[in-house]
Amino acid sequence: MRAMKTLDREKINAYVEQIFKDMAGAMTAGLGYVGVQTGLFRSMQGQGTMRMQQVVEASGLQPRYVEEWLKGMVCAGYLDYDPEQATYELPDELAFLLASDDTDHFAGGMFSMAPALLKVAPQVAEAFRQGGGVRFDQFGPECVAALDLLNRGNYDHKLVKYWLQALPDVVKKLEGGAAVLDVGCGTGRVVCVLAKAFPHSSFTGIDLDPNSIEQANQAAEENNLTSRVRFISQSVEQLPEEESFNLITACDCVHDLADPVSTLTSIQRRLKSDGTFFVVEPKAADRLEDNRHSVGAMFYGYSVFHCMTQSLANGGPGLGTCMGPQQTEALMRDAGFTEFAILDIKSRVNLFYAAR
Ligand SMILES: C[S@@+](CC[C@H](N)C(=O)[O-])C[C@H]1O[C@@H](n2cnc3c(N)ncnc32)[C@H](O)[C@@H]1O
Repeated sequence: MRAMKTLDREKINAYVEQIFKDMAGAMTAGLGYVGVQTGLFRSMQGQGTMRMQQVVEASGLQPRYVEEWLKGMVCAGYLDYDPEQATYELPDELAFLLASDDTDHFAGGMFSMAPALLKVAPQVAEAFRQGGGVRFDQFGPECVAALDLLNRGNYDHKLVKYWLQALPDVVKKLEGGAAVLDVGCGTGRVVCVLAKAFPHSSFTGIDLDPNSIEQANQAAEENNLTSRVRFISQSVEQLPEEESFNLITACDCVHDLADPVSTLTSIQRRLKSDGTFFVVEPKAADRLEDNRHSVGAMFYGYSVFHCMTQSLANGGPGLGTCMGPQQTEALMRDAGFTEFAILDIKSRVNLFYAAR
């Protein structure tokens, strides 16, 4: 055992502050989740200063809950407060991020990950002791909804207009009529967005989770896309070998795979000879020391409370959220891809790859 050295009082105080800050952050994420779900942020958007009663009326919510939420959000730094007038104000810049559902700048979806993932924290702690993990379906429909809310702004607004522009040949094929497979399609958003943008192409979405596939089928019906879109609840390995695709996409999925090399090999075999595998992954660096920032800390939380753990639950390697480009490339090459490129697409949270 190391000899006990004199503890630095200032450092202790700084760590105490850090612990309070982190716990406040966790609670603020919960308050933020409520603000998004109940429409509180939206009801304060563009209203300037408001008295508590005005927020109650604008939101139609229970007064005592609204009052406590307002006070909590003032302390968290999310609302401006005038003590003399007893008024609250949601700054326009924050409304831009949190009262902006269905835009590419909506950041409120992140809050929904906190309750969806921390719900399984006791089971995760048990898995630290016993091994195993928490299966995807054990997170329940709230997690499927949270993932959808987290990613939908990007898929709806950036996938076609920005991300795919990095692959002009692929866009040309999609315009002419291509066969597309989305692996780990979740609620089918990527497929529906692509199907709407490229009316001459046909689309298959595949996901192991039947609940997600049910929602994806609903989305296809609501968008009148069923003639060109199908969703299947199975793994790629189960697709007939003779089916091949011009474009295969995997968004926020590769790091979750329970048998990555086998699944990626099946993907590689189902690509037409000139086909492209387009991969979207969380933006993490290969070296831990380069992930020491708020997004890195958030991603390791996502990993322990979801990504790594649901892979381990299925006997997988638990690659985790923070794979980094080198590990991703090595995996792709193991699976038989011979070309691998990091695409020049700017994002705070995602990395983009093309493989053949
Ligand atoms: C993090 S979610 C992402 C969902 C969606 N692509 C999105 O970006 O919102 C990962 C998805 O991959 C699915 N998945 C994991 N392993 C799979 C496999 N081997 N085959 C098909 N889907 C898989 C999960 O069921 C889950 O829906």
